[in-house]
Amino acid sequence: MYRTHTCSELNASHVGQPVTLAGWVHRRRDHGGLIFIDLRDRYGLTQVVIDPSQEAVHGMAEDVRSEFVLQVTGSVRRRPEGSENKNMTTGEIELVVSEMKILNAAKTTPFEIDVPQDPNEELRLKYRYLDLRRERMKNNIVIRHKIVKSIRDYMDKHDFVEIETPILIKGTPEGSREYIVPSRLYPGRFFVLPQSPQQMKQLLMVAGMDRYFQIARCFRDEDQRGDRQPEFTQLDVEMSFVDAEDVMSLNEGLMIELVEKYVPHKKLLKKPFPRLTWKDAMSQYGSDKPDLRFDMKICDVSSLVAGCGFKVFADAVAHEGVVFALRVPGAAGFTRKQIDDLTELVKVYGAKGLAYIVMEEAGVKSPIAKFFTEDEMKKLVEATGAQTGDIVFFGADEFDIAATALGQVRLACGDTLGLRKSDELAFCWIYEFPLFEFSKEDKRLVSAHHPFTAPMAEDVAMLDSNPRAVRAKAYDLALNGSEIGGGSIRIHDAVEQAKIFQVLGISPEDCELRFGHMLHAFEYGAPPHGGIAWGIDRLVMIFRDEPNIREVMAFPKDSKAKDLMMGAPSELPKEQIDEMHIEIAKEEV
Ligand code: AMO
Ligand code: AMP
Repeated sequence: MYRTHTCSELNASHVGQPVTLAGWVHRRRDHGGLIFIDLRDRYGLTQVVIDPSQEAVHGMAEDVRSEFVLQVTGSVRRRPEGSENKNMTTGEIELVVSEMKILNAAKTTPFEIDVPQDPNEELRLKYRYLDLRRERMKNNIVIRHKIVKSIRDYMDKHDFVEIETPILIKGTPEGSREYIVPSRLYPGRFFVLPQSPQQMKQLLMVAGMDRYFQIARCFRDEDQRGDRQPEFTQLDVEMSFVDAEDVMSLNEGLMIELVEKYVPHKKLLKKPFPRLTWKDAMSQYGSDKPDLRFDMKICDVSSLVAGCGFKVFADAVAHEGVVFALRVPGAAGFTRKQIDDLTELVKVYGAKGLAYIVMEEAGVKSPIAKFFTEDEMKKLVEATGAQTGDIVFFGADEFDIAATALGQVRLACGDTLGLRKSDELAFCWIYEFPLFEFSKEDKRLVSAHHPFTAPMAEDVAMLDSNPRAVRAKAYDLALNGSEIGGGSIRIHDAVEQAKIFQVLGISPEDCELRFGHMLHAFEYGAPPHGGIAWGIDRLVMIFRDEPNIREVMAFPKDSKAKDLMMGAPSELPKEQIDEMHIEIAKEEV
């Protein structure tokens, strides 16, 4: 037997007992005679004492260094009075060693394991197995496991069946580039890795499985961001004979259970979760995933500034655009540099500028004041509710750009003013999304969610005449400004599905080639169905107050989608490439 106890188990009740522990040397202190070792395993730390009278063991302990793996046997004794450590579960006792075995020596690690500060991230990712020894990282991984376990229990209790779906599939169109796997047996043909199990889970509904879930790995070859990884994990759900309400309430129940269990110290601000239409979320918060931890709403001043002397505003309104205002209470003290930074920020989102007025004691101060009469300015100020000490920012543009720009200003000001508190959680559901978006890149309509999303019944008549106005039976779950989940009620009728493909400009031949399996399945008795998927990594990231999704994944890719530990992607031997019928056109430089 390697050990009788773990490194977190021993306490005063074990005093006098012989025990054996195994673990890593977390810290070693040589008090010129007594040697103290904090022995660490996943469960905790135990202080181990080696007395010089134990000559052989003491000699060995002199050579022991950090991160050596040891097995120690001895007896438990109470620590001398005054040297107890209340912060350690084993702080009352120590282990007096009589036998020691070095199970494995360790080189000096590239960074220290026992300090809380983060080492350089490249090193952390290269030596991830060492990084995961660190307390915070270990806790992230263990709690992630517990959260997933609770999810499984909840779903099981609600009659869901966990079903694995294949990783080698035919593409699912969900807007991202796919990872491709060449086929050895079929030259020139390819599998792709699923962006999500979307089609499979719908086919499982056709199969009569009624309630499906999966902790599913998804793959998307897209640009990396702090909350995105090329491989990530979803809680994937699909249900038959449901409407949006059923899906939302089941998921809300699970989410509240997780919050109560895993982040009881955080304040759940809004229960039941508020529901906003996409239009309201965009026009009030400038985001389809609004951060509702703080108020600060955008207001529409278009009708007030129509025909005004400031050309930028008047033109926007005249050309079917909008002028939105955002009152930021207590921001009058912002420096010129802060305002300039916000102006730069909105430009990233396509805005042309960021007009503003500062509400000073002496009156309104603003580069655009000269374009307004006193009365006009007074009305504008009144409409926004601005008070002395505030700033009001303005965005004049087409709806999406003006809203998004001020939404970003709202978030940035929320950060600056300390309104985005990490110990608060504000969930909300966003629904009535547009079914289609216009892709400026491809100059055509694309699905806002995915092409299997059902249109709202009352909007179906506009599919031909005004497709951009058609709303979807789709819903997203947002938390503190992040999109945590998204789903929809699906189309379950082959004719309606074919209609959507037609609006998307996909020819019947192309449809048959790409989605024939779905259309055919719908011809054999498809139940009405809908579902959702959550980003588990994102949720755990927010629960754990981590700034980055990588911190809650055991082996993530770096910000350039590389695996620094294994060195992937990597070249392959020529024979292996040939076997796949592939020719490398251009070597990477
Ligand atoms: P969607 O594409 O919105 O929906 O994804 C669902 C949730 O997955 C998370 N997510 C990601 N997390 C980490 N890295 C990524 N690259 C990444 N991309 C998405 C987000 C998101 O809300 N099949 C549909 C769901 C459905 O309709 O049922 C889907 O995948 O938190
Ligand atoms: P200009 O007349 O271009 O110097 O702009 C005057 C002010 O209006 C500056 O503060 C600009 O940042 C701002 N501004 C310019 N275009 C827009 C716009 N489309 N929406 C909001 N503010 C703008």
